[in-house]
Amino acid sequence: MSDYEDKKNKAKSYTLFNNESGQSFEIPVLKGTDGPEVLDIRSLYKDTGMFAYDPGYTSTASCSSSITYIDGHKGILRHRGYNIKDLTTHSDFIEVCYLLLHGDLPSIIDKQKFEKVINNHKMLHEQLVNFYRGFRRDAHPMAIMVGVVGALSAFYNDSTDFANINQRMIACHRLIAKIATIGSMAYKYSLGQPFVYPKDNLSYSENLLYMTFSVPTKEYKVNPVIAEAMDKFFILHADHEQNASTSTVRLAGSSGANPFACIAAGIASLWGPAHGGANEAVILMLQEIGSVENIPNFIKKSKDKNDPFRLMGFGHRVYKNYDPRAEVMKVTAHKVLKELEKSEDPLLKIALALEKLALKDEYFIEKKLYPNVDFYSGIILKAIGFPTSMFTVLFAIGRTVGWTAQWKEMIEDPVNKIGRPRQLYNGSNSRNYEIINKRETKSIFQWLWSKK
Ligand code: CMC
Repeated sequence: MSDYEDKKNKAKSYTLFNNESGQSFEIPVLKGTDGPEVLDIRSLYKDTGMFAYDPGYTSTASCSSSITYIDGHKGILRHRGYNIKDLTTHSDFIEVCYLLLHGDLPSIIDKQKFEKVINNHKMLHEQLVNFYRGFRRDAHPMAIMVGVVGALSAFYNDSTDFANINQRMIACHRLIAKIATIGSMAYKYSLGQPFVYPKDNLSYSENLLYMTFSVPTKEYKVNPVIAEAMDKFFILHADHEQNASTSTVRLAGSSGANPFACIAAGIASLWGPAHGGANEAVILMLQEIGSVENIPNFIKKSKDKNDPFRLMGFGHRVYKNYDPRAEVMKVTAHKVLKELEKSEDPLLKIALALEKLALKDEYFIEKKLYPNVDFYSGIILKAIGFPTSMFTVLFAIGRTVGWTAQWKEMIEDPVNKIGRPRQLYNGSNSRNYEIINKRETKSIFQWLWSKK
């Protein structure tokens, strides 16, 4: 938001009243183009000496952004103003990448030029192949992704200067183009198969399938239904406002760290089961449920406060309605399974029954817990032939464009400041220092010593 708009929206304000001192403070209100109004507490500490306490940032807008809009109560998701359903119906992933990065849908010429640029950056520096060989074969592909993406800054040193507009743009293009190659190579490495290089005559999603599933000894023909499903998967994962991994990218980038390091940080954050790791966890959960009769037990377990188990693929911090991405995923799952003649897939059967039961359950209704994007995506990916360990990698491939667009937006925002939250300190007060031979022995490490 520019300074001009910033001031313009300050017409409305709230008053914070201190009961003890009788002093009052004005808190201006900012209004974006859509969504709730925002209290501008930037001078709260300077004016009142107080911080705001908001663990998990449930009520905090950490930045202003014009990339993605979500209305979680109505189940709305828009990128640059375009509804996610329109994008998955009419656009392909490369168009959505252009939209997120540049703000508008491309013309035919712009799209061709953009695709050419992305194609030119798809290959990896050949020395990076040696880097892969340093990992154990059984390494989780997300561990490889974090390492290889972080290492890109060592190989593409000419696009690490965040302050240079050309270098910024090249870094974004490199990341979007190379991430699919990096992910596919992580998979090939785990199998011990030769790496497959991308081809210019294939689309982004076709290339991903080709690099993942083809082997040099056999002809590989991309199935158009599967390629379309992958394209939808990538569009649905392209961006999602200020989620944990995107906020991680922004926070890392706010210090001026290079873009490759920032995206590696985002990948690390995405890995967790409460975020991108949920698609993998959904499949493991459906397998554990095993059959439709066992569903009520698992629903009961997920409601038990003394049990850490949660229904994976259910609930969302922002959506208090059906996740619009899950709707598209569900339709796509049916199409993929039909194409692959797996319509009788037992996991799909369990998922459909689980969704039906949970949506009728008082607990889920009251807490507004609906299926999220991860609930059906795993079924699609599994049917296509990806191992579960690759699911979050595919999420990361789709999300890389969102991370880079958000990183670029942050760097170019005149209000950009290093991210530096404060805290509510709850530790010891000041105490006198004791020299070591006066200190009491604590039992903290006794379990370790007893193992010796
Ligand atoms: N199963 C059972 N209970 C749940 C679930 C669930 N999946 N999700 C939330 N709840 C309950 C939770 O126990 C809490 O109950 P109470 O108010 O009695 O303490 C209430 O609903 C609110 O949950 P919360 O943890 O305070 O909500 P949150 O916004 O912090 O968490 C979430 C959101 C996505 C982490 C959570 O719903 C969850 O763990 N879901 C399962 C994991 C999952 O599917 N994650 C993928 C998210 S979508 C992809 C992405 O964006 O990364």
